[in-house]
Amino acid sequence: PETGCLSIIVLGASGDLAKKKTFPALFNLYCQGFLPPDEVHIFGYARTKISDDDLRNRVCGYLVNDRSASPSEDVSKFLQLIQYVSGSYDGADGFQLLDKEITKHEISKSSQEGSSRRLFYLALPPSVYPSVCRMIRKYCMNKSDLGGWTRIVVEKPFGKDLDSAEQLSSQIGELFDEPQIYRIDHYLGKELVQNLLVLRFANRFFLPLWNRDNIDNVQIVFREDFGTEGRGGYFDEYGIIRDIIQNHLLQVLCLVAMEKPVSLKPEHIRDEKVKVLQSVLPIKDEEVVLGQYEGYRDDPTVPNHSNTPTFATVILRIHNERWEGVPFILKAGKALNSRKAEIRVQFKDVPGDIFKCQKQGRNEFVIRLQPSEAMYMKLTVKQPGLEMSTVQSELDLSYRQRYQGVTIPEAYERLILDTIRGDQQHFVRRDELKAAWEIFTPLLHRIDHGEMKPIPYRTGSRGPAEADELSAKAGYVQTHGYIWIPPTL
Ligand code: BG6
Repeated sequence: PETGCLSIIVLGASGDLAKKKTFPALFNLYCQGFLPPDEVHIFGYARTKISDDDLRNRVCGYLVNDRSASPSEDVSKFLQLIQYVSGSYDGADGFQLLDKEITKHEISKSSQEGSSRRLFYLALPPSVYPSVCRMIRKYCMNKSDLGGWTRIVVEKPFGKDLDSAEQLSSQIGELFDEPQIYRIDHYLGKELVQNLLVLRFANRFFLPLWNRDNIDNVQIVFREDFGTEGRGGYFDEYGIIRDIIQNHLLQVLCLVAMEKPVSLKPEHIRDEKVKVLQSVLPIKDEEVVLGQYEGYRDDPTVPNHSNTPTFATVILRIHNERWEGVPFILKAGKALNSRKAEIRVQFKDVPGDIFKCQKQGRNEFVIRLQPSEAMYMKLTVKQPGLEMSTVQSELDLSYRQRYQGVTIPEAYERLILDTIRGDQQHFVRRDELKAAWEIFTPLLHRIDHGEMKPIPYRTGSRGPAEADELSAKAGYVQTHGYIWIPPTL
């Protein structure tokens, strides 16, 4: 493992993402000893002229760690690691000052080799990525005489369509090499998403079943039971496909559908993900249902005639030997009746079924990403008792019950640790991003041009009924009367 001085620079330090995600994740890492105070220094950078203490006060309320033995002491020690520097996102002055401050810290601690490790976290809108990257490149790179590295972490949205994303990629690509760029998709940091690779390739159970001969359809679903409150302005520019489907759900699809990588090396894994994306066929209009919840346009930051979908079901078809004919139903929505994310793999009916008089539900393998992380297999068993009748039940691996006392790390916490360790496995590579945009750009353009309209749906509902009809048409059979209840302790 690398040692020596590490500077973590959070650009956009006073913004929402930094406050709610970046600093809390750093705090959790600190509490677990991953950010030793004698090596690490954290810099906040933004335009606002505030003091170190102002920034500390702003982030303080978001720092909670239920694993910490003495939380308030940890909070105050952690806050002492943070220093604030103010400056613009495109001017030399601010970045020269930032470099001076980082260097000061490095020199004071440069007893070790590799003492100039600089991690720039861009908690900023992508419009300023190019100028910020230019400034970092020009003024803030690690000091070669001290060794180490410079890495930058960026967040979506990476563009709005294929062209804008490619443009952004080449602007950043001119300044940094791919191994220096960490594109975060925080779904890749979720425990059960990370488990997919193990599950699929370390279990004999799944190997022979995971294909078109046995699987009828796959659903990847994201639901939220709240709307775009407070983020209407951002959201309306992007919509649910860019916000959730093109990135989070598509990344999950890659891990569900890809072939076995040559090894666990990040490049091998990402090579396979790219291949799956490149095998996705163009989306058909009749395999898309868009929705917009009633009341969405009441948000003062949303235009009165907005055509932006807050819900979408999109069917993707993968043209390869394993998946030909199996629909991947991606579904995401805001302001629905529940909050959950899951992968639902539905198997085909049992051939030559001898229990015909009692229609059996299909086998399903469900991976509940959140909340209440779990995996369960829905299967048919004999109803216990004297009668020979059948009932749907499940083999259930619920994390809270099975791994009592284990805290599942937050996605951001894990991903930031990877950036420090230089592991790019759980980050999106440039060609992966391009392939992802290629899939959705034609559809997005049609929506942007008003050629496809979202269907209104009630807040707190399942979304437009047309979406359920589309899933059914694609082959999904809903089991009625069965419900999995997460075990409580
Ligand atoms: C973000 C989206 O990327 O993911 C939000 O911009 C969404 O709209 C969020 O609410 C969901 O993340 P999680 O981890 O709560 O499922």
